[in-house]
Amino acid sequence: MKKKFYITTPIYYVNDKPHIGHAYTSVAADVLARFHKLQNEEVFFLMGTDEHGLKIQKKAENENMDPQKFVDKISAGFKKLWDKLEIQYDNFIRTTDENHKKAVQKVLQNLFDGGAIYKGEYEGQYCVGCEQFKNENELVEGRCAEHDTVCENVKEESYLLKMTDLQKKLIEKIEKDEPARPAGGFNIRPERYKKEILSFLKNEKLKDVSISRKNVSWGIPLPFDPEHTTYVWFDAFLSYLTGIGWDGDLTPTLSLSRRGSEGEVFKKFWPADVQLIGKDILRVHATIWPIMLMHLEIEPPKMLFVHGHLLSGGKKMSKTIGNVIGIEEMLEKFGTDGTRYLLMSAGTFGEDADVTMERMVKKYNADLANGLGNLVSRVVKLDLNPKSQIQMTNKIPNPNDKISDFINELKFDSALNYIWNIVREDDKFIEDNKPWELAKNNQAKFIEVMQKLVSDLYLISKLLIPFMPETSEKIKKALETEKAEILFPRRK
Ligand code: MSP
Repeated sequence: MKKKFYITTPIYYVNDKPHIGHAYTSVAADVLARFHKLQNEEVFFLMGTDEHGLKIQKKAENENMDPQKFVDKISAGFKKLWDKLEIQYDNFIRTTDENHKKAVQKVLQNLFDGGAIYKGEYEGQYCVGCEQFKNENELVEGRCAEHDTVCENVKEESYLLKMTDLQKKLIEKIEKDEPARPAGGFNIRPERYKKEILSFLKNEKLKDVSISRKNVSWGIPLPFDPEHTTYVWFDAFLSYLTGIGWDGDLTPTLSLSRRGSEGEVFKKFWPADVQLIGKDILRVHATIWPIMLMHLEIEPPKMLFVHGHLLSGGKKMSKTIGNVIGIEEMLEKFGTDGTRYLLMSAGTFGEDADVTMERMVKKYNADLANGLGNLVSRVVKLDLNPKSQIQMTNKIPNPNDKISDFINELKFDSALNYIWNIVREDDKFIEDNKPWELAKNNQAKFIEVMQKLVSDLYLISKLLIPFMPETSEKIKKALETEKAEILFPRRK
């Protein structure tokens, strides 16, 4: 039986068009998904959009649009961007999809009937940007540290999900994660994020969390009290399950055997192997999400992998500062594969990475135009005769183990650096051996030199498949047809 691999990205809010941060997570997930497909695994890659809540309701009101029409428009924009970036997802879940809404309501009813959800009152400081109630220590002079906006003081009747009772069990699950992936463990990586969450959980008591809002109309109505709508994160988390066909039934294994194909997908792919998230949404993913799953008696995901943020000129990107790098602008300048390369080589994936347009142009010219692009055209333009002898190199070397380790550990920048070391070595090899002179005075040596270069380019083309699928194809084609088109035009 084939090994399965289920990977998710967060579902993105549709209050605004997609930005470079969304693209960063999505390209990384796509690289992993493609890599696992190449290993002949059965892969499911889920993406989607998070479409309810106050933030979106307010934005639609400002735009004078019906909220459904508004989210339809923005969600389509996300999909369009993923097409341009060659992101090959297997399903795109929208939280306004009927089957998703039905499953959420089923879960709410079940948890309410079972006593995990109860009616109470909630008071707290709500940040609409985060769509979260904030603890006092997360605020700076009453403002949300993440969004630098004043929080709303909310005091209202609300339904709550029991969290406190399960805190100890949650800590145990997070601690029990060695070796890498045991059944029932819940890995948080990189390690320092696991430590951060454990120290938070050991120092603060988790409060039961409000899962409904009385004064937010744009959300899924609670089945047992339609005056309330579902808290947007509760709704959003369940998309990781509904996106692979779960219908919200509390006894999934029983119902699934009756339900046939759709339920089979859920049964096959859950628990997720990797859930990629940015550091800003770690705490909710490491508390509310696994506790919801515990109430549902569903296994937690095997791994939450947390990545850092892209900064611009050392600062958080913000419209007010005017340092936002547009993803459309990047695509226009660097093309699909150029953009994918620049995002994945921006820095170590778990850490923040600083980018500026100026530095990206430099890197593009150095690594892609003058680096890889130039190497391909030099090799292909050299007279490859006698062809028959050179073509022996058609056998493609196996992908190297070292690079697989890098990708499995989500060290995308190291994997790319590994490939670019081959590019740099080959450049030097050409300078040292001067094949254009050998072609005239030493045929045997010329063939030997060309065979190494052609064989290296086949290897590079193969290693690049998950990162730069189109370029990988183009290199192969250039070697086969001996025609070199310009892969990466120089940019200013
Ligand atoms: N809708 C929620 C997620 C729900 S998942 C059940 C959400 N959406 S979001 O659109 O605000 O953000 C989604 C992702 O984009 C997060 O992982 C976040 O970390 C990431 N990024 C947002 N800005 C970013 C950067 N500047 N750099 C890298 N990633 C960043 O949160």
